[in-house]
Amino acid sequence: MAASAGPATSRTLESGYIGQGPKVELFEQQLRDRLGHDFLVTVNSATSAEHLAIHMLKRASTPKGRDERLKGGRDVWPGLELGDEVLTTALTCTATNWPILANGLRIKWVDIDPETLNVDLEDLERKLTPRTKLIMFVHWGGYPVDLERVSRICARAKDMFGFTPRVIEDCAHAFGSMYRGRPIGTHGNMCTFSFQAIKHVTTGDGGLLTLPDAEFLSRAQLLRWYGIDRTSNRKDFRCEADIGEWGFKFHMNDIAASIGIENLKHADELVNRHRNNAHFYDQALASVPGITLLARHPDRESAFWIYSILVERKMDFQRAMKERGVAASQVHERNDIHSCVSEFRTPLPTLDRVVPSLSAIPVGWWVTDEEREYVVECIKRGW
Ligand SMILES: Cc1ncc(COP(=O)(O)O)c(C=O)c1O
Repeated sequence: MAASAGPATSRTLESGYIGQGPKVELFEQQLRDRLGHDFLVTVNSATSAEHLAIHMLKRASTPKGRDERLKGGRDVWPGLELGDEVLTTALTCTATNWPILANGLRIKWVDIDPETLNVDLEDLERKLTPRTKLIMFVHWGGYPVDLERVSRICARAKDMFGFTPRVIEDCAHAFGSMYRGRPIGTHGNMCTFSFQAIKHVTTGDGGLLTLPDAEFLSRAQLLRWYGIDRTSNRKDFRCEADIGEWGFKFHMNDIAASIGIENLKHADELVNRHRNNAHFYDQALASVPGITLLARHPDRESAFWIYSILVERKMDFQRAMKERGVAASQVHERNDIHSCVSEFRTPLPTLDRVVPSLSAIPVGWWVTDEEREYVVECIKRGW
């Protein structure tokens, strides 16, 4: 079901037009309708979306006049400059953090909240400095970060330093997650989603960038394809365009969009099944010795791309589960241990404490009622 391609994709393949065209437009319209958010562009991966989002915040890449206009307002946002620090979490896919490095910026790690595995907002607030222009985090497993509190922290930073830090939310796990009644991706920040092979909605490979306003939208539409306006009526848009600002080759193509259009039809069903399995585990594992479940708050709903738990003696747990035919994995390794980021090492005591017990159990749409009962039975048998 999640990898459905359908006859529409075959028609695209036979249509003679497989680049970015009408299917991408249609997929984007469907995403706008679904999210209730006008400012979005599809791209070829979430990693590209992260890269593009950060790039658009760089001072050197801001169009002429933008800085001056910002200075005219009260919120003087200085733009990212080479070597600036970005506050970010280490517990995520490397795709959240490597684009920071690719854009010439430096990482400043923030610890995690042991109850949600999301970024620890107290630690984040403590680490604010006049150089904090950008904050990034992931909604781990799809569980929303407290965005209201992030806004308060940004407002405090503005009181202290004269500008509001920008925020990029990595929503790769969070397609369908809700925070205070609105879908994740629509709370006014730059937000990146993944349509990679094993996400809730797949296009084979693909991504989505949601943006705060129309100005960012039109820039992103250009920069995802070299800086060329594909919508103009010129005879040959490749040769005749003047490129005011150079861009990337990050666009989505019509083959991927056709797959996305087919899969989007099943999105509610898929997300609901992830959620239903998660709620089952919340009940069934609530008082199992050796297991700690994560927190749930009434103002947010996870899409449960993964279902993480904390377990005593993790290696024994994972070995026992494997022997019983149940996949159990941490899913993402902490990013700060890699040698390519050794210069940014900093004490992260909660992450140190949590990782040795962090595991996930199968929660996806493919897990049947019988299978989830079997998972619980295997856990209750002990390890
Ligand atoms: C948290 C997170 N961010 C970003 C990505 C990257 O997504 P993509 O493969 O679409 O670039 C992933 C992929 O698994 C992810 O888990």
